[in-house]
Amino acid sequence: MELAERLAALAFHVPAGSMVADIGTDHAYLPIYLVEKGICTRVIATDLNPGPFRSAGRKVEERGLGDQVDLRLGYGLKVLQPGEVEVLVLAGMGGNTIREILAASPEILGTVKRLVLQPMADPGDLRCWLAAGGWRISDEQLLEEDGRIYVVVVAEPGREKTGDPCLLELGPRLLEKKDPLIDVYLQGIIDKYERALAGLAAARSGAARERAGELKAKLERIKEVAECR
Ligand SMILES: C[S@@+](CC[C@H](N)C(=O)[O-])C[C@H]1O[C@@H](n2cnc3c(N)ncnc32)[C@H](O)[C@@H]1O
Repeated sequence: MELAERLAALAFHVPAGSMVADIGTDHAYLPIYLVEKGICTRVIATDLNPGPFRSAGRKVEERGLGDQVDLRLGYGLKVLQPGEVEVLVLAGMGGNTIREILAASPEILGTVKRLVLQPMADPGDLRCWLAAGGWRISDEQLLEEDGRIYVVVVAEPGREKTGDPCLLELGPRLLEKKDPLIDVYLQGIIDKYERALAGLAAARSGAARERAGELKAKLERIKEVAECR
């Protein structure tokens, strides 16, 4: 089974031989790929919703991988036992949903060695939460699929050296390693801030003006970082 670029990037960050759980697996493409390529001998694939869970079950059956892909229905990490997995993959969900799922199960999270995360939104909030909770951002990667840019954030237990919220919003390892897509990515963030500011331009309330001031200050700092690279 060949994987789309986004899922292949997730697989790249899974160490060979590790015990993995793919949380919110939907179609189970990633677990199937990890097993078929011999990267993992067994993968846990979970989903909260019966529809995706059944769809994952059908795909796993079709490939004859029922013994190697262990399907579980339930919320986030609640379906795991402490120490059962070394690597968690959470992809295709909002950054705040990923954060809530991780925060809901500290007893499981405390036994995990690596997180491979692909937030669809709010990666900065997720990185700030990781850094505050004893996770260092060990690697990051941007990729483009169907004209959209995605970010993969890899975290491991440890102390994150970057405490600057602006750098955590933009991606400290993306900036350091000068990811090939960083310029397009930063421009996308700048455009988003400029659109939000334009939306607030006509607002008269004190709260809106305060928000516009905050956004403007953030935007200036982001532009500085983008120019200094
Ligand atoms: C957009 S799909 C992403 C599927 C796959 N991970 C990917 O990246 O292509 C999100 C999946 O996460 C599941 N999901 C959402 N919240 C969840 C939770 N709290 N626990 C487990 N699964 C969840 C949804 O049912 C859905 O199948």
